Amino acid sequence: MIFKQVPVGSYQNFSYIIAEETTRRAALVDPAWEVEKLLQLCSDLNVKVSLIINTHSHSDHVGGNETVSSRTGARIVAHASSPVHKDIPVKDGDKIEIGNITVEILHTPGHCPDHICLLVDNKVLTGDTLFVGECGRTDLAGGNSSEMYDSLNKLLKLDDNVEVYPGHDYGSKKSSTIGYERQNNYTLKKRTREEFNQFMKEP
Ligand SMILES: [Fe+2]
Repeated sequence: MIFKQVPVGSYQNFSYIIAEETTRRAALVDPAWEVEKLLQLCSDLNVKVSLIINTHSHSDHVGGNETVSSRTGARIVAHASSPVHKDIPVKDGDKIEIGNITVEILHTPGHCPDHICLLVDNKVLTGDTLFVGECGRTDLAGGNSSEMYDSLNKLLKLDDNVEVYPGHDYGSKKSSTIGYERQNNYTLKKRTREEFNQFMKEP
């Protein structure tokens, strides 16, 4: 598997390239900024973008969808509830193929209702649900701290050695592991649902 984390734009976003060596098929995750740079990287890697996968519908994650799809013919994958134009609506537990790579969809609402995390190989792409040392905010439209509580607990069911690749570069490092987050992320401290809801209301 070819896997690239690409810092893009002015909001510390990360896009990701997931590609398969044999078929040279690639998925671009959250292409919103610096689309030319992303397409050039794919060209340099000699891979063809066949899928666009959105972790969620916020503009800093989807802004390049139409450009990438019109330039490459890639189909857009997003949660079934996402308001963006999508060719492949997905739900929790669905599996998407990139060549012989399988991406499993985890529905993780809380930051917004259509948020998904992507489980591929020994990695989880966590979008704006989980950052290194932080979790996503729940005070935007469609945000819900009780759903975030369940979504974070869903991620914490993954093995400690699963690598975490977030949607923004907000932490002390660019990626971590579930074990590192379990130990070090103050938003993941053991709390009841009520305690977590209260915690998310605090500034
Ligand atoms: Fe977001």
